[in-house]
Amino acid sequence: MGGDRVEKVCIIGASGKLGQYMVGHALERGYEVVGVCRERSVPKLAAFEGRITVVPGATNDPEVIRRAVAGCDGVLTVLMPWGVRQYASGTAQAVLDHARPGARLVFSCGWHITRDGRDRYSRRFSLGLRIATVLGRLVRAVEIDDQVEACRRVFASGTRWTVVRGSDLEEGASQGLPVWSQHVGDPVLASNLTRRIDFALFMVEALTTDALVQEAPAIVGRLTPSALAHTGGIGHPGKPPA
Ligand SMILES: NC(=O)c1ccc[n+]([C@@H]2O[C@H](COP(=O)([O-])OP(=O)(O)OC[C@H]3O[C@@H](n4cnc5c(N)ncnc54)[C@H](OP(=O)(O)O)[C@@H]3O)[C@@H](O)[C@H]2O)c1
Repeated sequence: MGGDRVEKVCIIGASGKLGQYMVGHALERGYEVVGVCRERSVPKLAAFEGRITVVPGATNDPEVIRRAVAGCDGVLTVLMPWGVRQYASGTAQAVLDHARPGARLVFSCGWHITRDGRDRYSRRFSLGLRIATVLGRLVRAVEIDDQVEACRRVFASGTRWTVVRGSDLEEGASQGLPVWSQHVGDPVLASNLTRRIDFALFMVEALTTDALVQEAPAIVGRLTPSALAHTGGIGHPGKPPA
């Protein structure tokens, strides 16, 4: 693991599925937690009442983020490209601008984000992405290009970032820390499935894992066939059981 001392974390997008799992993992570790979510979604955090501080507001509102990340050692951000209003890049920018220097910043996204262009995608994946990009923009519901822009800004920042790239997700009990690779297309990732609770576990674990600073790990469930068939994980967290 690493040398980062984490006591207080901010979870941006706390009321979503991934966010709620991250809140649970962070509380289990004894962290003080501040959660940001839309005003109307505050009731979704009722189970954590009295144990976390909630800052209601849009995650791309710089003033909301400035207040929420104050004094935090780590910031976990769910990047979502909702609407056609630069929501993901606005959220990422607010975090980059307002988190304290040296804080650990961990962002979630999908396999479609590439850092160095060396990811290899199946034809099916690429086609699905193209359709989702065009359709999402057409109905003005999702702006996948903006999630790409958000990650570009994170990669270009000099911060202590990690961008966790999730595979397809499913619900279910935890299987432990996912396995990761630097590149989509690595055989270890072929199963393309991770439990959402374990995606959240990886995000929280990344806060204190030095090996993940300025990395964009693509993850897959540790008990998936591809993870079990390959050693993978390049030796870091999530290495599957021997
Ligand atoms: N779903 C997948 O199969 C998949 C696959 C790979 C990677 N990922 C990544 O995993 C992360 C979590 O994805 P998820 O699908 O599991 O979603 P999720 O955790 O349920 O999160 C959805 C988030 O978006 C917010 N949201 C929903 N509608 C919104 C709107 N109109 N305007 C603003 N915010 C809105 C939700 O807030 P409220 O609680 O306020 O609604 C919540 O914070 C994302 O970074 C995603 O890119 C997902």
